[in-house]
Amino acid sequence: MTSVGFPRALGTCYYPEHWPQEVWAKDAQMMVESGLTWVRIGEFAWSRFEPKPGVLELEWLEEAIKTLTSAGLKVVLGTPTATPPRWMLDKHPDMLAVDAEGRPRGFGSRRHYCFSHAGYREESRRITGILAEVFGSSVAAWQTDNEYGCHDTVLSYSDAALEAFQDWLEARYGTIEALNAAWGNVFWSMEYDRFDQIGLPNLTVTEPNPAHVQAFRRFSSDQVVAFNRAQVEEIRKWSDAPISHNYMGRVTDFDHYDVGADLDIATWDSYPLGFLEDRVGASSERQKAFSRQGDPDFQTFHHDLYRAVGKGRWWIMEQQPGPVNWAPYNPAPLAGMVRLWSWEAFAHGAEAVCYFRWRQAPFAQEQMHSGLLRPDSAPAAGLAEVRQVASELAAAPQVEANVADVALVFDYDAEWAWAVQPHGQGLSYFDLVFEHYRALRRAGLNVDIVAPTTRDFAAYKAVFAPGLMYLSDDLRHALETADCPCVLGPRTGARTLDFEIPVPLPPALSGLDVTVTQVQTLRPDSPVALAGGGYAVGYIETLDGSATAILENISGACLAVQTQNLIYCGAWLDEAGLDRLVALVADSADVSIRSLPDGVRVRRTATQEFWFNHNAHTVDTEAGPMAPASVIWRDL
Ligand code: GAL
Repeated sequence: MTSVGFPRALGTCYYPEHWPQEVWAKDAQMMVESGLTWVRIGEFAWSRFEPKPGVLELEWLEEAIKTLTSAGLKVVLGTPTATPPRWMLDKHPDMLAVDAEGRPRGFGSRRHYCFSHAGYREESRRITGILAEVFGSSVAAWQTDNEYGCHDTVLSYSDAALEAFQDWLEARYGTIEALNAAWGNVFWSMEYDRFDQIGLPNLTVTEPNPAHVQAFRRFSSDQVVAFNRAQVEEIRKWSDAPISHNYMGRVTDFDHYDVGADLDIATWDSYPLGFLEDRVGASSERQKAFSRQGDPDFQTFHHDLYRAVGKGRWWIMEQQPGPVNWAPYNPAPLAGMVRLWSWEAFAHGAEAVCYFRWRQAPFAQEQMHSGLLRPDSAPAAGLAEVRQVASELAAAPQVEANVADVALVFDYDAEWAWAVQPHGQGLSYFDLVFEHYRALRRAGLNVDIVAPTTRDFAAYKAVFAPGLMYLSDDLRHALETADCPCVLGPRTGARTLDFEIPVPLPPALSGLDVTVTQVQTLRPDSPVALAGGGYAVGYIETLDGSATAILENISGACLAVQTQNLIYCGAWLDEAGLDRLVALVADSADVSIRSLPDGVRVRRTATQEFWFNHNAHTVDTEAGPMAPASVIWRDL
């Protein structure tokens, strides 16, 4: 779903505390002249809000907000809790997160806190309450904290986390006998007598119990939700402005749907070139081909995911405007890409795209990170493209509701389950879902990523739900009875809630007679060829049952089966295999598909069709020849 009735707008991230007060008004004026509407401020400024414990200095912020709003900008105020000041550590010496090797993660950068530390959570609530009370009616939106989970900060092995985990387990299991039984602790004599004997699942001699690790992952996610909720409660006491959080790319250590349930808008921080270098997982050949354009699917995967997290309402809070500082290599975007990324976000339903940052900082960690202005305040390369988007937006329709052809389920719990027990090196649920997404996008389909709590699929022509290791009874039933083709597997329902292999064996779907009788993982150099083209790679199941085979290996063993609307695929398919699966499903669903040229993507809104060429060369498309890094749109 896409939200209804919001004008599309641009914005930027600004740090008044980095610049002399004399330049604020000039900056604000230039932002407005450049076509920007939104400005986000404040998210790292705690040492200037409260230089000493209890000593508040908010006049400068009031002045900054006044300057920006009187120029005509709308302010998003960030709570500063991602950067507790140095004095906070003197007050709460044990507030730091601890890594899996038992080392505290020290002061001197950011995100140096443990989500479970009760004292710090209270400090975070306190500063949020103060800001909300003072600025609740002068700002137009809020952002809680900054990029929860970035820099690997969700899992903490601190004493605070240990105590909170033991309480969480007691609340969940009630008795120690129930926990021992649920986890199978009879194995290796791991049985506990009391909850306070249970440790965190690090520093064990060999692999800890997967049920223990999965419980710790769920607990850690809940701590993020609770931390965020405390801030939301404070803000709502004083302000009616919508509340957002800026999520990151491929940070999956907490359940974003759960955090998003307490918020009004999901935003995310999109750094296409940095991501291609450090987290997409593309081959070096593709990294080279797209080094100045970014991966053609990675950003939109997150647009579609965070649209679900935001219950339809989402923004880009930080858009890469030029070279960044933090990836292994940091090239400049190809001319046209800043505009393309902006329009791509709008085509996927964004209400706003804000660029990080207004002016490049000449000091500290991000001096090599470009902004829309150079450190000397002259326009940097990206600004001209931003101005172009701003003038094009003037004639654009507002964001309108639009349901996609296909629903693709993304489940954070499954991501943790695969990480806890991949069964083969490098097998990740994120990659499995992302590869399905890529195949659907290659076929020219609009995709709605949906939460595993979705029960009503009536609006969709097909549903893909790969890799859901734990499948709740409700979702199982919803998929079994949906009116459109639903594709499950591999590993669907392969574990119970407490990480046991269920009996009857998976996937145990009513209406589809198939049983997984063996699972194996494959070396990267030993894929299994499919009859008719493509390969099973990495992960493969042996299937038994009377359902009709729709994909087989070259020896005739069945890899995917179908009965009416239910399809089970017992293998991780490569690109060619996934293209075949998508074509089979499209055929059953009566959906027409395309085979788009590499790097070309299409997306339809309620009223327009957008075409994007992410290539560094011209490509002929159905919509006409497309120049490198270009976007075209036409009315439907
Ligand atoms: C984001 C972060 C910003 C800035 C930016 C640099 O992760 O939210 O504060 O550090 O990266 O690319």
